[in-house]
Parts: sequence; structure tokens; C-alpha cells
Amino acid sequence: MATLKAVRGTRDLLPPETALWNHVEATARAVFARYAFGEIRTPVFEDTQLFARGVGEETDIVSKEMYTWEDRMRADSDSAQSLTLRPENTAGVVRAYIEHKLADTGMLQKLFYIGPQFRRERPQRGRYRQFWQIGAEVLGPAWSGAESPLRDAEVLEMLATLLNELGIRGWQLALNSVGSATDRPRYIAALREALAPVKSGMCENCQRRAETNPLRVLDCKEPSDQATIDALPRIADFLDDTSRDHFAQVKAALDACGVAYTVDPRLVRGLDYYTRTTFEFTVADGSGLGTQNALLGGGRYDGLSEMLGGPKAPGIGFAIGEDRLILTLQAQAEAAAEPKLDAFIAPMGVAQNAAALALAQELRRAGLSVEVGDGSFRLKKSFEAADKLARRMVILGEDEAASGILTVKDFSAGEQTKVARSELANALRA
Ligand code: HAM
Repeated sequence: MATLKAVRGTRDLLPPETALWNHVEATARAVFARYAFGEIRTPVFEDTQLFARGVGEETDIVSKEMYTWEDRMRADSDSAQSLTLRPENTAGVVRAYIEHKLADTGMLQKLFYIGPQFRRERPQRGRYRQFWQIGAEVLGPAWSGAESPLRDAEVLEMLATLLNELGIRGWQLALNSVGSATDRPRYIAALREALAPVKSGMCENCQRRAETNPLRVLDCKEPSDQATIDALPRIADFLDDTSRDHFAQVKAALDACGVAYTVDPRLVRGLDYYTRTTFEFTVADGSGLGTQNALLGGGRYDGLSEMLGGPKAPGIGFAIGEDRLILTLQAQAEAAAEPKLDAFIAPMGVAQNAAALALAQELRRAGLSVEVGDGSFRLKKSFEAADKLARRMVILGEDEAASGILTVKDFSAGEQTKVARSELANALRA
């Protein structure tokens, strides 16, 4: 009988790793409590309409990643209802805010959640079909101060504090403003116009999005489209005075709290409900996440409650990818535990073995720590050994031996460069 396994894109979490998950969640709860957040738990599945209307029909999440099914009330009932495993939690929180008339309290609502989310994405390291988010939302009637730029800054400062308390190193905050409900249509019209003459030279996705949802073109990662995208109009030039002033105040408050950020004019994020402030925290390559380096994302959604049939309730929130946070903590702890060698020399064939040893001797005399591979290794084996032991790999093949120009692979930067032998020791020391 075939053995059963966890479904693709899902995974078991076992001890001792679960202790780290509990530590992360306990730290988050403690930080949230200091900032006056209370916990909300919403259902894991909701009416499909909630996400179609809240997150947006044209987003990747709704158009292709949701786990949706027709659910019959009873086996003998004809009335089916379309249900969906939640792909994110913001829409559910706002639905609950409306359903429980939290607006009537007149108070600002500060709510956090910790729980699984579901998206049918292509699984890879840091991207799963069931993944966990630690998130929070701040929303309320305008008179509760929910629209204030200080709320944006408070949320961002809280995130910086949480990441620092968890010991995440090297995080970076990217910030943008995508404008208000009136700025965006003007910007989208300008984008459409600018895309019309150039879109035929872009990737298939961009060609479609140029028609259906031009903002999403800015998310495109296709290398050949980048120059075209960089030349497109920028949202910053379409913000009205109120949005511009709001963004300026967010930045001023962050400066006052000493939270470092960079403004990324292309950060529009993949969900349709965002207005004004959007942000993402990333970690540098080499922190265990590879290309899935967004630790968390969020932003303002001043019109979401109305889109879901509720009262005006401006808000801002974020969700941390807990799986990614844990991977980063593990990778950073591992990197700190074993100091790596300066270089691993990989001879490309046994004929290069003697030259590799001579090169190692030269580098060791220059004070560097070096390990040498063997020419009988396959390239993959050299890569694996080098990645485990050293910060960089030096490739020594016939061409390199003849030309004196060596190929150096830097594992943390993910880059490959050519270095002259006379410069090698200095380059490896950098
Ligand atoms: P999001 O950017 O779609 O935003 O997701 C937030 C974070 O969840 C991402 O930065 C990433 O760390 C993690 N994440 C997303 N998809 C996956 C996946 N397939 N596997 C592992 N981790 C993943 C939202 O979900 C918004 N609801 C955030 C928000 C709250 N905006 C305002 N309030």
C-alpha cells in the first residue's frame, strides 16, 4: 500500500522546531500587548465573495490561488454556497469589524491574529500552500484617529521593535504611498496610456495586466521588462496634497523614532485594497529565504470596509510570514554558530588538483582560511561543500589556470565575478 504523505505545499512542524515557533509567537504577543493590541480569531474559511470583493478579482490571489469549493448546507439540500479557505486575514478582520458593529464603540480597534492561511502557489523554500501569518490591523471611524499618519508610523515602529527583539539581523523597510481612492484612478489612467505603445514588447503577464490591472505591471520581476517599467510614470507624481502630506508625516514620525527606511516608488503590493502607505520588510540574501525575501508586508486600506458594505473605517495593518521569519532566524543562528572559511577552491578536474593546492598555499600564506576540493568532485558536489564551509568558492578550471583570471562565487551576495589572481587575496578578504 502506498504510504500517505503531507499534501504538497503543506508540512509538519515537529519539536524542537515548534519551541522556536512558540517563542516567536510569545514574543509577538508580548510586543502587541505593549502597543495595546487585543487578539482576534476569525474563521479559517469564509464566503468566497469576501475575498473577491475585498482582495480583488484581478489579483493573483483571487484569480488563481484560492482553495474554493461549493459547499452544500446539508447532503439533501440544493442550496450550495461558495466557500474559500482564507488566503489572508485582513478581509476577515474587516468583515468581523462590520458584523460586530465595532464602529459603535467609537474606539480605535487594534487587533492582532496568528494563524494559518492558504494559497495555491508553486511551493518552494519560504513559500507554502498552508503558511502562517502573524498580523495586526488598526481601524476605526475617522474620528478615532484611524486615519492619522501617526498610526502608520506606530505600526512600523512596532514592527521594527518586534524584529529587533526577535534578533532578526539586517532587515530593511521599503515604503511607498499608492495614493488615495481619487489619486489612484488618475495614476492608473496615466499608466495605461504610457503602457499602450510599449506593452507589446513586454512579457505575457504584463500585456494582460496592462489592460486589466496596470498597477500589477509594477510587480513584474521579468528581467527584460525592468527598463520599460522604470521609465513608466511614478505614483509619487500623482498624489494630491492630502496624500502627499500624509506620507510626509509618516516619514517624519519614523525619522523621529529612528526607524530606517527607503522609499520604493514601485512598491504597490499584490492586493487591491491598499490606499496611501504601503510597506514591506525584507532580509538580505543569505538569510535563508532566497528569492522569497519578503518577511512581511502591509499597508493602509481606507476604503476596504465600504467595499465590503460597512461604514467608513480607515485602517492600516500588516502580516508577517511566520514560516519565513522562522527560516530567517534559523539561518542567521546557523551562520553565527559556525564561522565560515574565507574560500573553498574547486578544481575542475583532477588535472587542476596540484594547481589548486598551490593556490591554497598562496592564499593561506596571505593569512586567509581556505579549504581545497578535489578535481574528481562533480560541480554540484563542489558547490554543496563550498556553500557549507566557506563564504566564497574559487573555480579553477583549465581556462582559469591558463588566463590567471579566476571565477569567484559569493554565496551571500549570490554573485559570480571574475578576479585576477594578483587581486584574489584582497577580493576574498573583502
Ligand atoms: P501579503 O503580502 O500577501 O499581505 O502577505 C504577507 C506576508 O505573508 C508576506 O510578506 C509573506 O511573508 C507571507 N506569505 C505570503 N504568501 C506566503 C506563502 N505562500 N508562503 C509563506 N509565506 C507567505 C497580506 O496577506 C495582507 N493581508 C497584509 C496586510 C494586513 N495588509 C494590511 N493588513
